[in-house]
Amino acid sequence: MTDHSAPDTGEKRPALIPTTPAGIAQAGELLRAGRLVAFPTETVYGLGADATDDRAVAAIFAAKGRPQFNPLIAHVPDLASAQSWGLFDDRAHDLATQFWPGPLTMVVPRPANSALSLLVSAGLDSIAIRVPGHPVAQAILRTAGKPIAAPSANRSGAVSPTTPHHVLESLGDRVDAIVTGGKCMVGLESTVIDLTGPEAVLLRPGAVLPDEMERLIGPVRLSAGDPTAPKSPGQLESHYAPNAAVRLNASSAEEDEAFLTFGPDRFVFGGTTRLNLSLEGDLNEAAANLFSHLRSLDQSGTRRIAVMPIPEVGLGLAINDRLRRAAAPRS
Ligand code: TXA
Ligand code: MG
Repeated sequence: MTDHSAPDTGEKRPALIPTTPAGIAQAGELLRAGRLVAFPTETVYGLGADATDDRAVAAIFAAKGRPQFNPLIAHVPDLASAQSWGLFDDRAHDLATQFWPGPLTMVVPRPANSALSLLVSAGLDSIAIRVPGHPVAQAILRTAGKPIAAPSANRSGAVSPTTPHHVLESLGDRVDAIVTGGKCMVGLESTVIDLTGPEAVLLRPGAVLPDEMERLIGPVRLSAGDPTAPKSPGQLESHYAPNAAVRLNASSAEEDEAFLTFGPDRFVFGGTTRLNLSLEGDLNEAAANLFSHLRSLDQSGTRRIAVMPIPEVGLGLAINDRLRRAAAPRS
């Protein structure tokens, strides 16, 4: 079995992989095996993992030490591939034709029954997709043959890395390999535009400018400076919320409750249905299962979901952050 967990001791050094054909092949192999590989794009270095592998995606969050599950960008080599993971309308199609490959990320609806990890979308019904232009990123994506989830390859709260040295400093002991492709040309994260609604909304400014996009698709609402606009994407509040009410820190389930458990199922179970996030109490596995289990319990038709306590350490911080949002009163 592949070990997807991010090493958190200082013992491990990442493989430094050159941008030769053999290096690209090795990077592709590691990604297909569920490992974490940092690689250059034209904007910043990305911390890549197979976007269809829940545990590999969970390992990204563990490595970054992010206390929240922010949705991630799925990277693909071309528009044809992008169209198999996201629903493209005319606007998305026109922007892709003009700006891809390049520093533009589009948030589009996610098809039902997508094989992409729900963790990549943080449980949302949308998916952020980008076709990077960097030749090394292109080669890796083609060789991997999988959509690759990749946030900037830095620890949470640190600045985005534009050289392999930055990645090594920030994540050196937490990544399996770094593809050493030199300095990133743009040096600033991609422009993010949300096309899930009738109005196009700029979620993050970047090298592709609003004016350039407006020429193709008409008005783009700028979220910056507009008090009615969504907060900056890092603080997105539009997370998937289950229909069922969520009760936290439950030691048992009541008769009408579904039960989301963690760790060995030792107790007598009295509720409607039960799913275990991780029998072994593994937080990485629990993160990987979180959104799909919440959805499954919700779809079971239960009105209430009880959730066992999850330790407030490592990935448990992000899991609990998400669960607290799910349990918060709805307006
Ligand atoms: O330039 C870049 O975009 C780099 C390189 C590696 O491609 N990646 C990057 O990823 O900056 P990250 O995770 O640091 O930023 C992704 C941004 C976040 O602000 C996130 O909130 C937003 O995209 N995002 C991702 N999926 C989204 C979604 N479904 N809905 C709304 N925003 C989303
Ligand atoms: Mg980032």
